[in-house]
Amino acid sequence: MKAFGIALLAASLALAADGQPSPQKQEADAVKACADAVLAGFRKIAPTRDVRFEGKVSEANALCRGGDRAMQFRDTPWVDWSNYWGTGDDSSLPKLAPVVSKAVTARGVAGALIDLEFQRVELIKFNLFDNSGTYEQFINGHDGTPGPALKVWPEMRLKPDNPAFSQVGGDGPQECKGSLIRGRTTTGICNDVLNPAMGSSGTLFARNVEFESAFPESSPAVFTRNRHGGRLALLQPDPQVISRRLLTRIQSDPAACGNGFGLPGNSVSANCDYKKASFFNVLAAYWIQFMTHDWFSHMEEGHNAPEMMKTGCDSQLVNGLPTPLTPDQVKELGCRPDDQIDKGYVADDSAPGTFTKDGHQYLTRAPKVMANKNTAWWDASQIYGYDDTSVRRVKRDPKDPAKLLLEPVAGQNGGYLPVLTADDPKNPQWAGQESAAFPDNWTVGLSFLHNLFTREHNSFVDEFRRVAAKTPNADCGLRDPANPKKVIRYKDVTPDDLFAAARLVVAAEIAKIHTTEWTPQLLYGEPLYKGMNGNWNGLLGTGDPDVSKALSNIIVSNFGKSKDATKATQWYSVFASGPGIFGIGSKVHGYDITKPEYTNGGVNHFGSPFNFPEEFVSVYRLHPLMPDLLEYRDLKKDPNKIAEKVAVINTFEARATDAMRTRGMANWGLTLGRQRLGLLQLHNSPVFMQSLKLPRLDTKTGQVDILALDIIRDREHGVPRFNEFRRQYGLRQLTSFDDFIDHSLPAASPDRREQEETVKTMREVYGQHACDASKIITDAQRNADNSPINDCLGHPNGSMVDNIEDVDTVVGYLAEPVRPHGFAISETQFVVFILNASRRLFSDRFFTSSFRPEFYTTLGIDWVNNNGPGPVMMEKGAPNGHKQPVLPMKRVLMRNIPELQPELDSVVNAFDPWARDRGEYYTLEWKPRHGAEADDAFKSPAATTTAAAIK
Ligand code: HEM
Repeated sequence: MKAFGIALLAASLALAADGQPSPQKQEADAVKACADAVLAGFRKIAPTRDVRFEGKVSEANALCRGGDRAMQFRDTPWVDWSNYWGTGDDSSLPKLAPVVSKAVTARGVAGALIDLEFQRVELIKFNLFDNSGTYEQFINGHDGTPGPALKVWPEMRLKPDNPAFSQVGGDGPQECKGSLIRGRTTTGICNDVLNPAMGSSGTLFARNVEFESAFPESSPAVFTRNRHGGRLALLQPDPQVISRRLLTRIQSDPAACGNGFGLPGNSVSANCDYKKASFFNVLAAYWIQFMTHDWFSHMEEGHNAPEMMKTGCDSQLVNGLPTPLTPDQVKELGCRPDDQIDKGYVADDSAPGTFTKDGHQYLTRAPKVMANKNTAWWDASQIYGYDDTSVRRVKRDPKDPAKLLLEPVAGQNGGYLPVLTADDPKNPQWAGQESAAFPDNWTVGLSFLHNLFTREHNSFVDEFRRVAAKTPNADCGLRDPANPKKVIRYKDVTPDDLFAAARLVVAAEIAKIHTTEWTPQLLYGEPLYKGMNGNWNGLLGTGDPDVSKALSNIIVSNFGKSKDATKATQWYSVFASGPGIFGIGSKVHGYDITKPEYTNGGVNHFGSPFNFPEEFVSVYRLHPLMPDLLEYRDLKKDPNKIAEKVAVINTFEARATDAMRTRGMANWGLTLGRQRLGLLQLHNSPVFMQSLKLPRLDTKTGQVDILALDIIRDREHGVPRFNEFRRQYGLRQLTSFDDFIDHSLPAASPDRREQEETVKTMREVYGQHACDASKIITDAQRNADNSPINDCLGHPNGSMVDNIEDVDTVVGYLAEPVRPHGFAISETQFVVFILNASRRLFSDRFFTSSFRPEFYTTLGIDWVNNNGPGPVMMEKGAPNGHKQPVLPMKRVLMRNIPELQPELDSVVNAFDPWARDRGEYYTLEWKPRHGAEADDAFKSPAATTTAAAIK
């Protein structure tokens, strides 16, 4: 006892010497703060948008959930939860006795999840703006039902020119029935049985921001005009200048990079510097390109509108005024004034109507609206098609039409997609590529993923046929809504039925991979591991199907059907985290596939028809993820050796197909799996993309700077600029470019110096102005003292302030210097996902109430739940403390590219670089796993770009 007392005294003295209170004392303070927070009660959901959460909690809550560390960062613009206990790596765990430490960590992580749920609930309340004519109903309600509780909209009816018009009821009440509800339709109609047009190809992109805040260049709204002071135009500030000065990857040895083409013969001596993410691989970059091709497209068959436009390289700001660039400046920047691109399509730019409520005037839609040419559903339409043209590129196997066509390739194992033929609908630039519904911007990564999931489709069909051969008379689970009582035996299933079921299975597997494997690696930490698994399996994680079923039924019947707006939206969202969104409403007693209250009963659109908002497209402009050179490896020779450096641009379009067929799926899997992708930061965009050749344009240069184009397209689509974008989504505003510096970094650190240099460049590129405090610039938020936010952003009236309001959203989110641990994206991008990623599940009948054997087959349901055939396969050990199944992408890879099985043996998450040691609790360390010590990627010095190199 005496010895213990002495040790305690010694410990406290030692700690007193460094001036820090002991961990025990900190924890005692935190516990008291928790009690204070509990007494203060849960914060209320904000009644109006200008007083919403902003991700910043009370002092008591910060102390309770994260101790002194969380208190330190309360004054920054960035969300608090990333400083709570357990939300980072080992260093975020409390240094206390193990039992106490576990409880404190759980408190921190739970706190983070509570903050995220508050954000989601307020996003659902304040950020849904439909462009297709339903917004007035959302605000004013309809026939006594408040807007957020509405479930059916006349605007979501099929129009008379739709081939299924009369089938759904024509001019009378419309309801999808029979063959239209059995599976996913080509154009995406009838996913929602009572809103046949919702999410179908050609419907309008929505918005997540007030219509008045969109199109800042031209908006007549006073706030918006005040915000930008007439400084903005489509090409102002100049997008190519922004690209060259803020986005270019600086090269330590430009000759070794060869403008992104590397060196002749794919020499390994080539090198294009890029900043790498240690915990995310190139397969993950191609994955997200593959996903976006499923979700949305502004383009039609690979082109935009017929008119052409310039893309900048004309001017820069001098003393706040746009001043023409001299030829020398053009040369120094390396931009191209003669580049041109086809203008984006606009579906409607007529003046929107207005309506009023409580004396406030609203626009009925944004001043311009654009159409999503793809289905908005997560339906694998990049593989299976989304309109009459794209579906002609989807080839069924004549020997078994339930399968997709794959053909042998000499020297390679497994089947490969066939190449487009002369008869296939195509743009000239696609000639020589594999045949796929969405063929644009084809890369070797897309080729890999299309081939992989085509194989997966066929694997499911093979397994189904195997079971059918064994038990031909058994009930396969499928039902025909036109004849619902008739049992369909395995032997009765037609190739078309099986094809449709396989599509449902593949789409659900893709959604599961994205939700439970890709995203938890993109946002690599405990809160998002739990949160994303919560979206799929439920946060309660009871593992007890009865509990989950009971909860799901309570939610659907009590909240889903409620006419009370709060219950129908906010409570629904919160309580759905218990059993999980996936499958919600599918286990209802007496389920009847002919009745919409069952098939459609689990969906919730929260009062606003589902489609992606323009803001969602903006945060997916992830071009910095791409490296310039692929570190090619040969599985049979030596997986640890980088055998060649293949330029990404040399695997573009038909060259992708050639690369795939000559080198094979296994080698490309290994290559993409082991290489790190590019960090989403400024000065880290691919060199080759600044000079991408697009011969279809037939312009003087034939080239385009895709990074400048990202900025131009966002401006064409009216995406608000970064600071207002954050306010609109309930994040805290920035007040100067200096907020792009992480002031917690040591002054001499290279990262801090680079940020300071970048801020100087931003000041030159975007400029400053003398502010006018009489100009109110937003109604989305207020200052802490409840005063309106004005042009001076807290600086003295008349002083020179940064044009922080003008920063393009893409530039702003890449510049964010502080991100939660393990976040490959910034918090601004993330907040857009919180809302839209869960809506994508909530709104889709096939992921909720129609996730049933009647549609998927019994085998299909098991396949999705178990990540493939047979029972669940468990991963070795307990990665990051979780016993978990072998994740679905890993299973898909092992199943369809068996050569990769030994390589994948030590992989837990297919999107974590395959040779990395995953180490302990969410470490981001770049360290080889056992057996990969000789991997070349661990030898080369980290590519860093110093601030001094950036002009
Ligand atoms: C070699 C790789 C890639 C190339 C060559 C490429 C090229 C392009 C091109 C030419 C466009 C069309 C620009 C326009 O006219 O509007 C585009 C759009 C886009 N890209 Fe990429 N891209 C690549 C990889 C990626 C990746 C990895 C992502 C990650 C998500 C991505 C996301 C997007 C998005 C969101 C758009 C806008 C689509 C729309 O507006 O509907 N791209 N890309």
